[in-house]
Amino acid sequence: MIILGIDTSCDDTSAGVVEGGCHVLSNVVQSQVRLHHPHGGVVPELASREHLRNIMPVVQESLSQAKVQMADLDGIAVTVGPGLVGSLLVGLYYAKGLTYVYDIPMAAINHLEGHILSIFLEEVAPPFPFVALTVSGGHTSLYHVEGYGRYALMGQSLDDAAGEAFDKVAKILGLGYPGGIAIEDSSRDGLKDRIKFPRAYLSSESLDFSFSGLKTAVSLYIKRWHNNQVEADNVTPSDIAASFQEAVIDVLVRKVLMAREKTGVSSVVVAGGVACNKRLRARLLEAASGEDVEVYYPRPEYCTDNGAMIAVAGYHRLSSGERAGLSMDVRSKFPIQDLTPL
Ligand code: KG4
Ligand code: ZN
Repeated sequence: MIILGIDTSCDDTSAGVVEGGCHVLSNVVQSQVRLHHPHGGVVPELASREHLRNIMPVVQESLSQAKVQMADLDGIAVTVGPGLVGSLLVGLYYAKGLTYVYDIPMAAINHLEGHILSIFLEEVAPPFPFVALTVSGGHTSLYHVEGYGRYALMGQSLDDAAGEAFDKVAKILGLGYPGGIAIEDSSRDGLKDRIKFPRAYLSSESLDFSFSGLKTAVSLYIKRWHNNQVEADNVTPSDIAASFQEAVIDVLVRKVLMAREKTGVSSVVVAGGVACNKRLRARLLEAASGEDVEVYYPRPEYCTDNGAMIAVAGYHRLSSGERAGLSMDVRSKFPIQDLTPL
């Protein structure tokens, strides 16, 4: 079964072709970073206009790289939420056009399910059940994954997503957008223990996250630092970046291990844009090795938003007989609990 996956949930126009739910034939992403860079974040109206310009060439390119034609496709999978409404609409209506004109079945995909299943694009994937942490600009959530389409939410961010905190702190530090990679790069020259920023573990049992307090603490520190009001001498922007990054990672690592212990599973998957962070990868691998836990990461291009991961989810939904009709609409909020179990 060959599936075309389309994702336009935020600021990347992406399309990928996947065979058999795991073999990537193509994965094309048209980034909008340059467009949004001067604004220090994604501007929704600009994003949807850019998707409109890019969707056709991106899908064409994904078919051409995969060496397939529309007639070779067995299905189209498209993200319908969560995400920016104007952006999602472009992908969904383009997919509707294709499904109608070429008479190919369509599946409506939850973006978070795409992130969870992105690990199946890799040659080595974990056995079920496993714990998945999806950590990106829009979400920070922990799931107990029992099978395809069977996800129990264990915890989630009560305020900012981890990636959002990276982006905001980078902006205050003047490191530019997108912030995650900028913070990671700057951190390499900094001392991670230089400033003790707060870690919000919430209650000892909680698997929820909260990053807004940390973001505020960093922002207040930077203000005092600009005014030469901090106690320590010669604190650099890299020290602040490294100390912030370590605070986020401490919380993520602790909660992933707690979720693992609670479920008793032996595999953990970390996906989403923040999973590209090399320090996070190293810290989690180190922590897990002491506990006999296998940690799985998709490669960076499957961590950030992409069409191939949507095609994986589409493969399983279409195989189980699920179909999305032409009246399907987008959903800015789409909790994973609302998904039809497979
Ligand atoms: O999954 P993604 O591409 O889009 C969303 O669904 O949000 O994730 C984008 C997020 C951004 O907040 C970006 O700053 C963050 O992932 N990110 C990183 C790194 N690379 C991307 N955060 C920390 N370290 C990185 N290396
Ligand atoms: Zn995403």
